Amino acid sequence: MARITAGLTSSHVPAIAAAWDQGRADEDYWRPVFAGFDWTKKWLAEHMPDAIVLVYNDHASAFSLELIPTFAIGCADRFEIADEGYGPRPVPAVEGHADLAWHIAQSTILDEFDMTIINKLDVDHGLTVPLTLMFGQPEAWPTKIIPLAVNVVQFPPPTGNRCYMLGQAIRRAIESFPEDLDVQVWGTGGMSHQLQGPRAGLINKEFDTAFLDRLTADPEALRKLPHIDYVREAGSEAIELVMWLVMRGALGEHVRELYRFYHVPTSNTALGHIVLEPTN
Ligand code: DHB
Ligand code: FE
Repeated sequence: MARITAGLTSSHVPAIAAAWDQGRADEDYWRPVFAGFDWTKKWLAEHMPDAIVLVYNDHASAFSLELIPTFAIGCADRFEIADEGYGPRPVPAVEGHADLAWHIAQSTILDEFDMTIINKLDVDHGLTVPLTLMFGQPEAWPTKIIPLAVNVVQFPPPTGNRCYMLGQAIRRAIESFPEDLDVQVWGTGGMSHQLQGPRAGLINKEFDTAFLDRLTADPEALRKLPHIDYVREAGSEAIELVMWLVMRGALGEHVRELYRFYHVPTSNTALGHIVLEPTN
């Protein structure tokens, strides 16, 4: 049977992609950002999963205001890199795991989650920036990726509690897949950030630190956090953090925190990253 071996989360700031793609990763501003992922790069090399369910949000690249699925899963064998206005990033296309993705779609839908099935999907910085941070610049990404898109762009996004429950359903799905696979679940986006309006540039380190602490030790408290608290405390785009709760729900009740990195500022945002291992 397949199993969930670890979960991790990371911000997906597009300026990170620009810095990397333009060869500026060694500049004083960017060096500490990329260095914050050195531990995880080494750890991943020794704990490479067979597949990653990568929870991210599309930023009007594959979807638009004409079509806004709340939860959607990429069931294709391959996902091209989206053109976000400057041409697609010079990174490898993403190889999917169609059998496992279809199994997760079937299992979660029969588990009463109204999952949208996507057979053609171009993936944007929400998905590719974490890949760059964790894997650098390989010829091909070292494992298969199942994109799982969550709407956090157009109100109303799903609640943190619903995202957590989806994570639990994803775990049930993975644990009922008959192949012997190691699977990780990744969450992306966050942490505190607001990109527009008078509060643009808002960063709240206390909120972010408490969120990271509770993600490990008290996810029950985070399940109850209403949308308005994310927006008020940590900025309008901090709502992306509900995607981290999909990862957390998938890991089960008890986890061990293996690594954490928090860095301010990264472009307009607070960058957060955590690696968790299930212990139950
Ligand atoms: C920016 C965009 C994002 O999607 C994000 O999560 C953080 C920052 C930006 O445009 O700077
Ligand atoms: Fe984003």
